[in-house]
Amino acid sequence: MIPGPGLAFGGDYNPEQWDEAVWKEDDELMRQARVNLVTVGVFSWALLEPEEGRYDFAWLDAHLDRLHANGVRVDLATPTASPPPWFTLAHPEAMPVGADGTRLTHGSRDTYCLASAAYRRAAVGIASALAERYADHPALVMWHLHNEYATVCYCEQSAAAFRVWLRARYGTLGALNDAWGTAFWSQRYGAWEQVMPPRATQWHHNPGHTLDFRRFWSDQALAAYREQRDAIRRHSGPQVPVTTNLMLPGYQVLDLWAFGREVDFVGIDHYMSAPGMDGDADTAFGADRARSFGGGKPWLLIEQGTNTVYAGDRTLPKDPGRILRSSIAHIARGSEGALFFQWRQSRAGAELWHSAMVPHTGPDTRIFREAAATGEAVARLAEVAGSTVSAEVAVLWDADAWWALDSQGMPSGDLDYHGTVMRAHRALWDAGVTTDFAHPEAADLARYRVVLAPSLYLVSDQGAATLRRYVEGGGTLLVQYFSGVVDARHQVRTGGYPGAFREVLGIRGEEFRPLAAGDEVELSDGSSGTVWSEALRAEGAQVVASYTTGTLAGEPAVTRHSFGAGTGWYVSTRLDDRAYAALIARVLAEAGAAPEVPGLPSGVEAVRRRAEDGRGWLFLLNHTAADQLVVPVAGVELLTGEPVPAGGLRVAAGGVAVVREG
Ligand code: GLA
Repeated sequence: MIPGPGLAFGGDYNPEQWDEAVWKEDDELMRQARVNLVTVGVFSWALLEPEEGRYDFAWLDAHLDRLHANGVRVDLATPTASPPPWFTLAHPEAMPVGADGTRLTHGSRDTYCLASAAYRRAAVGIASALAERYADHPALVMWHLHNEYATVCYCEQSAAAFRVWLRARYGTLGALNDAWGTAFWSQRYGAWEQVMPPRATQWHHNPGHTLDFRRFWSDQALAAYREQRDAIRRHSGPQVPVTTNLMLPGYQVLDLWAFGREVDFVGIDHYMSAPGMDGDADTAFGADRARSFGGGKPWLLIEQGTNTVYAGDRTLPKDPGRILRSSIAHIARGSEGALFFQWRQSRAGAELWHSAMVPHTGPDTRIFREAAATGEAVARLAEVAGSTVSAEVAVLWDADAWWALDSQGMPSGDLDYHGTVMRAHRALWDAGVTTDFAHPEAADLARYRVVLAPSLYLVSDQGAATLRRYVEGGGTLLVQYFSGVVDARHQVRTGGYPGAFREVLGIRGEEFRPLAAGDEVELSDGSSGTVWSEALRAEGAQVVASYTTGTLAGEPAVTRHSFGAGTGWYVSTRLDDRAYAALIARVLAEAGAAPEVPGLPSGVEAVRRRAEDGRGWLFLLNHTAADQLVVPVAGVELLTGEPVPAGGLRVAAGGVAVVREG
């Protein structure tokens, strides 16, 4: 389904920012850099529809024809993430309103409310017009709807749509009042009209209310996506896939499993969130998520930066070699190519300092040379297109669990869903194990030897039953503190923690004892824990480590329970890094989950892609500053075209190798 042949290489192309002389140079430089796919039109609404209902396609016709003549395929975007000023002025009610009631004005992008009828009409209008005109253009190979669905709105139209959504979910007001526990703080609703979006209020919001609003908003975004997709499908056949670019892993307003089911393939954006090896781990994290949300199928990296590493209030540059290594790191985990934001660095506008493939200084630069060398490398890997990655280990990821934990009034400010999930993935990445993400209700969990449940605070009854069956059937489940505590309504499972998993884990938690910032507890195996501790009883579980200090001295901290044919592990504190790695290593070893390549030098990442016909490719990424020798590998290295020498493969410092095995 993903546009081939071979792998895609290129980026966002915004030719409307430039003139003819630059377009000519673009053609030449794209050939040099082996660019074969560009995303066009993402922010072009004001040019394409200068007035309501009046379209100007002549300029885009010319660019698409030119790109096609130059051998470059087109990912045509609908420009709906940035409505033009005429739209805003004609429909002020379609501007987004914050939780504090402030209505935004145009002048940036993403100034729209997804629940606004006028916006939805206008978005479908421009999407249909584009599809009608370009469905049969020979350059077109994919549709890219919108850009990073992310804007949330609390306006009156959102309120009305929220009520419709709640009626469909609960049927009666009584059911809604029960679900949200409105008996507390006199919140009982006597009429649907009394229910508002969770706007700014005094003290805590009701956590059932905020959870449902986030579910509702994700559904709104998905409905807006579907509407555009269906409009496009009326003109454009199934041979041209439709997708959107999902935002960075840490940004969370969508149920990404739901989006994964609706897109023809998953597309993601990924900007490293840290320099050094943390950035490489973050890349693997984003890539494993993208593959998982699409059900294991190939996916596409739609945006990355040539020279952009986000680090708090600044963007750091990428070290030499990083453009290639990060691009290949995504391809190693299933991406069908590597695209960037953007082709040519803007000289004006909001992102004039965002990196690009052709920097302000032009092509005689390290950045362009590295981008072009990456294009060459990607071209050499064409044969891996369509192959997939499989994993023996999964980390559970659930938007509901994140949204629920992200409520006010939690017992500790250090309970961080995203951070805890990243840490679990990182420990597996450090152990060299290829990891999927999975939903707690997934029907096919049995294919994993080990499943980790970090911060799965909320789990539905169905999720709890699925995980129970998984362990009963022989799986190994590692549950971390403050998981399985509330149900899908955000109501506590009473009678002992962690309510959903007590039987599987053979424990009963009586009391959560969050730790003060900076406090530590000592464990009997010499390790320590922070953030959290619990008064826990073993009810069938074996105690692997107990607390040795404080009120809990002598009580279980880490447990292991045989349940059915499988094993349930529980860890009731945030173990120190070394102890966490040791625990994961033990859990993996007992379950027979092996690293992709055993005995690799530390800092070398290995992942395999496999084709249906049995061919396999081993990707090796050296994240260290020294050359590394990888011994247990045989085949042909595709970037050099050379067979792997008998003594092993030397992977250069910061470099990559891709071996066709066999
Ligand atoms: C997002 C957007 C792009 C651009 C980049 C900058 O991914 O989709 O338009 O703003 O961020 O990093």
